[in-house]
Amino acid sequence: MNTQVFHVQPDAIDSASIQAAADIIRAGGLVAFPTETVYGLGANATDAAAVEGIFAAKERPATDPIIVHIAAHDSLSQIAIDIPERAWQLARAFWPGPLTLILRRGPAIPATVSAGRATVAVRMPAHPLAQALITAAGVPIAAPSANMFSRPSATTAAHVLEDLDGRIAMVLDGGPTSIGLESTVLDLTGDVPTVLRPGGISIEKLRELLPDVTAREQFHEADISAEAPGQLIRHYSPRAEMRLYETQRDFKKMLMGTLQETLIGKRVGILLMSYEIAQVESVEGAEVFDLGPTPEDAAKHLFAGLRELDARGVDVIFAHGYARDGIGNAIWDRLLRAAEGKVQ
Ligand code: TXA
Ligand code: MG
Repeated sequence: MNTQVFHVQPDAIDSASIQAAADIIRAGGLVAFPTETVYGLGANATDAAAVEGIFAAKERPATDPIIVHIAAHDSLSQIAIDIPERAWQLARAFWPGPLTLILRRGPAIPATVSAGRATVAVRMPAHPLAQALITAAGVPIAAPSANMFSRPSATTAAHVLEDLDGRIAMVLDGGPTSIGLESTVLDLTGDVPTVLRPGGISIEKLRELLPDVTAREQFHEADISAEAPGQLIRHYSPRAEMRLYETQRDFKKMLMGTLQETLIGKRVGILLMSYEIAQVESVEGAEVFDLGPTPEDAAKHLFAGLRELDARGVDVIFAHGYARDGIGNAIWDRLLRAAEGKVQ
């Protein structure tokens, strides 16, 4: 298959490109498109065969359910049933935006989308291209992140092509995504609202509306049995091995670590904040990737950094986490999975 790439300016959307993409979605094909979090790989969520195409293209296990994307608040009632009042409150507060709600699945959504579960994940993305595509297609769009299974998510069209060129019909290139990490996944089907995946909306923000919200502990047995879908420890993995440190305070320890690896002949890559790079000028023998000045920048550039250091052919990648609040939580979750749960 020849993957078409259409460049579209988010602030001056070319409707012919959107129509072409929407035609592909309605015909059962796959289109990758930008959201404010990461690129999604979209198919018609009401068409089981089209959704199966997503699993095939990504080589994603059929046990991992997919998020349904909508472009209007009202569409929620076409996707889910028994929608509690607090879901509508959250939707009003955070949509469009990086919050995914798990609710009971309605009859319009085939079981394949949810990997056979009685629930469904729904979100209304804020990116103008995503909204234009969903609206033009006239159907809800099922979309996981547009990367091969277990690889770092795609935050640019180039990342999508790196993984999926020749496997999908089209990529809408709207430039790099702004948040860089995926949406927060919030389960509203139990007694207590539970964050299954930290993401673009912080738990502190959710708590303002949902005082009883809890976060699922980051790793437990279910991760290994993959009972908790999509939350496998091995996820977002670069090809290189990860050396993960807790926080910025481990900066010196981290530099020592890189030195040791270089001495035994390993090619070393390191993800650093701009001010850290300024402190050391160069890390002897290491490939350095600049994540930018703030944790928000680090979130935005993290997946690009993992992919870039892989492309430069390093054997190991050094990185550290940030204070575990706000976006720092989501960054830590992704780093920990990239490192398969191992911390130095
Ligand atoms: O920001 C995002 O959420 C991006 C953009 C494209 O919207 N999408 C994304 O999709 O990250 P994906 O498939 O890479 O991750 C979806 C996560 C997975 O961990 C999946 O297991 C979980 O949401 N999920 C989806 N449906 C679920 C359900 N019915 N019950 C529990 N978890 C679900
Ligand atoms: Mg994903």
